[in-house]
Amino acid sequence: MNSKEGSVGEVSREAVSGSMPEVVQFFDTTLRDGEQCPGATLHPADKLVIAHQLRRLNVDVIEAGFPASSPGDFEAVQQIAREVEGPAVAGLARTKPSDIDAVYRAVRDAQKHLIHVFMSVSDIHITYKLGLDRATVLTQTATAIAYARTLCDTVQFSPEDAGRADLDYLCTVVQAAVDAGANVINLPDTTGYCLPNEFQNLVATVRREVRGMDQVLISVHCHDDLGLATANSLAGIAAGARRVEGCINGIGERAGNAAIEEVLMALRVRRPVLGLADNLCATELVPTSRLVAELTGMMVPANKPVVGANAFAHASGVHQHGVLRDRRTYEIIAAEEVGAGQSKIVLTARSGRHALRHRLDRIGVELPADSFQAVWTRFLEVADTSKEVGDETLSQIVGEVSGLQGAPRSSPA
Ligand code: KIV
Ligand code: ZN
Repeated sequence: MNSKEGSVGEVSREAVSGSMPEVVQFFDTTLRDGEQCPGATLHPADKLVIAHQLRRLNVDVIEAGFPASSPGDFEAVQQIAREVEGPAVAGLARTKPSDIDAVYRAVRDAQKHLIHVFMSVSDIHITYKLGLDRATVLTQTATAIAYARTLCDTVQFSPEDAGRADLDYLCTVVQAAVDAGANVINLPDTTGYCLPNEFQNLVATVRREVRGMDQVLISVHCHDDLGLATANSLAGIAAGARRVEGCINGIGERAGNAAIEEVLMALRVRRPVLGLADNLCATELVPTSRLVAELTGMMVPANKPVVGANAFAHASGVHQHGVLRDRRTYEIIAAEEVGAGQSKIVLTARSGRHALRHRLDRIGVELPADSFQAVWTRFLEVADTSKEVGDETLSQIVGEVSGLQGAPRSSPA
C-alpha cells in the first residue's frame, strides 16, 4: 500500500513568513472531568498509570483530580504530583479555603503545579445551584483567588457555565479574578451550549474587555452536549486562547469534554491555515486512548475520529482503490502519525476487485485470471452474508474454488 506522508499540498504560513509559530498548550483533565462521568471512576493506582502515559504523550498540564472530594482522590493527586515529572500538575477547588488548601497540599511536591479554582457565573447556576447573588459570587471569587495566590504562583480561575452567562457579568468576574492574581483564565462552556461563533465571541470579548489579559494565559474548556466541543475549542483558539482543556477519547461529564486527540489533529492537519504548534507526541495518542478505555471501561466507538478502530479502515471498493494507489486520496492523517499502525483494507460485500487482489497478494496467493473471477464470485456470496471476510475465510474460498491452482505461493506445489 502506498502510504505517502505529509500534508495535502498546502504551504504553511510560517514557511512563508519564516516566523516561529505560537504554541497551543494542552491541559488534560481525563483524571478529573473525564473520571467524573458515570462508570469511569478510577482507582488511584490506575490514575497513576494513566498519568505516566499522559507524560509520554507530553501534555502540558495534568489535572489529576479534585483533592477535597475524597481521601482517595487526595492521595491519587499527591502521588501523581510526587512521581510524574514533566507536565505541571493541577487539582480542582471550589472557592472554599479548605478545598484550596487540599489542592495545595496535594500538588505542592510537583516540580510545576497549579491551583484551579472554579465558581459559577451564570444566573441559572448562581440562583438555583448556589442560592447566592451576583455580588456574593464576585466577592467569593476574588477572596478565593487572592488566598490561592498566597500559596501558589500559578492560579487558574474557571468561571463555570461561562457559555450561558451574561457576558458583561462574566467580564466583571474575570476582571475580579485577574485583579486578585489569577494568571490563567479558563473559559468553560460547561453545558456544551454555545455555537462556535458565539464561543469565539465570548473568548474575544473577555480578552478585549478585561484589563491585564495580555499578561494572562487564556484557556478553553468545552463540553460536547451538541457535538461541538472540538469546533468550539478551535473557535476559542481562533479568538486567542493558547491552552485547551480536554480528555482522552472525549470522555467526561454527560456527552463528554473536547477530545484531546481531535483538537490536536485539527491543529496539526490544518497547520498551514492555523499556523500553530503544540508540544504533544502524537504517536502516543492511540496507546493513550487504549489505556484510558481499558482502565475506565469507557469503550471507544469504532467511528471515533483519530483513535477509533475504523479511523483508518476502508471497506468500500471505490475508497479502497484510491487508498491502495495513494492513501492521501481518502486519509488526511497517516495512521502511523497517531500510533495507529497502518491503514486497514477491510474486505466486505462493498469491497472491490483491487482490494481482493491486494489481500490475496498479502496472504501469498497468486491466481490466474479465470480462477480469480471464480474466487471473486464466491467471495461476494460469502461477503453478502457476513460483516467482514477475514484471511482465514479467504484462504478457504481460494481452496474451495480453485483447488491446487489457488495454493499459496509459499506452499509446496
Ligand atoms: O465544565 C466545567 O465548567 C468544569 C470546570 C470546573 C472547569 O469542568
Ligand atoms: Zn467540565
